Amino acid sequence: MERLPGFRDFFPRPLPQKNQWEFEARLHLFAAWRRVLAVYGFKEYDGPPVEPLELFTKKSGREIVGQLYNFDDKGGRAVALRPEMTPTLARMVATHERQYKKPIKWFSIPQLFRYERQQKGRLREHFQLNADIVGEAGVEADAELIALLIDVLRALGLGSDDFVIHLSSREAWQAFFREHGGSGTDEYEFFQIVDKLERTPEETAAVKLDKIGVPLEAVRRFITEGELTSQLKIVLKNLRARGIDQFVKIDYGVIRGLAYYTGIVFEAFDRRGEFRAIAGGGRYDKLVELISDAKTDLPALGFGMGDVVLLELLRSRDLLPKGASSVDVYCLIEDEALRSDSLNLIQGLRDAGFRVDYSLVALKSNKQFCQAMDMGASFTATLVPGEQLTVRLKSLADRKEETVAVVDCVAVLKRRLAESHGD
Ligand code: HAM
Repeated sequence: MERLPGFRDFFPRPLPQKNQWEFEARLHLFAAWRRVLAVYGFKEYDGPPVEPLELFTKKSGREIVGQLYNFDDKGGRAVALRPEMTPTLARMVATHERQYKKPIKWFSIPQLFRYERQQKGRLREHFQLNADIVGEAGVEADAELIALLIDVLRALGLGSDDFVIHLSSREAWQAFFREHGGSGTDEYEFFQIVDKLERTPEETAAVKLDKIGVPLEAVRRFITEGELTSQLKIVLKNLRARGIDQFVKIDYGVIRGLAYYTGIVFEAFDRRGEFRAIAGGGRYDKLVELISDAKTDLPALGFGMGDVVLLELLRSRDLLPKGASSVDVYCLIEDEALRSDSLNLIQGLRDAGFRVDYSLVALKSNKQFCQAMDMGASFTATLVPGEQLTVRLKSLADRKEETVAVVDCVAVLKRRLAESHGD
């Protein structure tokens, strides 16, 4: 039975085929995400993977609504698999914000579902790091979030030759739109056209824009010559002070496809332009109010960074970890009469926290040894009969052997493993 198109299997090593998705790479990514978010003082949260359909139809905008996995559940409720995390976060915060000091700095790593046309970098499910700050209207928060995005990518080994963050301003575009006589009802339509400009044939874009009454020429001029907003100037100064302004550039070609953004917006791209956007986000000061039916009004901002493009990028730059060993000790049972004693030794080693494996059934010694090698074990341990049982430890790195008393085994292994890790 085939898996559904646009969904992934994640395999442990060795991968059954090249170009499969690797579970360990995903763990590596999540660990780096969690590490940097903790460094910035963000706390982790999660919400339900299935939400009332209305949560997303309310304010995500047509683009995401057209990609929803939605259905009626057995209770007749209209529900959807979450295509993004932001409305869920807005709902959670709107309901319980009084319990939390502001600004609220939260992150999450949800699996999201969008019924998209499958293409490079875009699937029907993906994991997405979401980092958001709620309750701070000052533009310093925008700078902090962009610095965080930069540091997340740097923590994965990517440098300023690998990625760049394009900064723009929804506000500037709103002002441009009003100056050209645009009316409120067409605004989102206009943002959508600008968002897709690069991927739309010139004539089609011109006709669409004409209908709204904005000339394509003026849009193009604004993208190249639009003046920097005072907020963007502050963000640039802030990033310069941290010494990380080489990771950003101003690009009014970015406007973001989602409906709810209100201020500074940004997208991260690989420098060579080989991949789709790595991450995207911005300020959305009205979403909490909208989702709470005006019961709560809090400014907010955040970004989402998907695992699909990022893993492809890291693989292409050879920045994913190479096969780490899965066991510390492989216990060789060369004499089946010693299986019970060996199990006792194995249990003791596992209780001490070592990763231990062994053959579940009787197996020739050389085959057991091959298994130890395949697993990348650091040591083999073999019980040796005698007046008293002893353990023969063999380092697989330098093949040195030593025989130790069973009671000393844990202590010696701890020492040897620390030495081999250079501690
Ligand atoms: P978004 O631009 O729709 O924003 O998605 C953010 C990132 O998620 C993209 O840049 C991309 O890396 C990844 N992504 C999106 N769709 C797919 C897909 N079909 N397959 C693979 N990766 C994908 C949002 O979702 C906003 N809610 C982010 C946000 C958080 N804004 C404020 N807070």
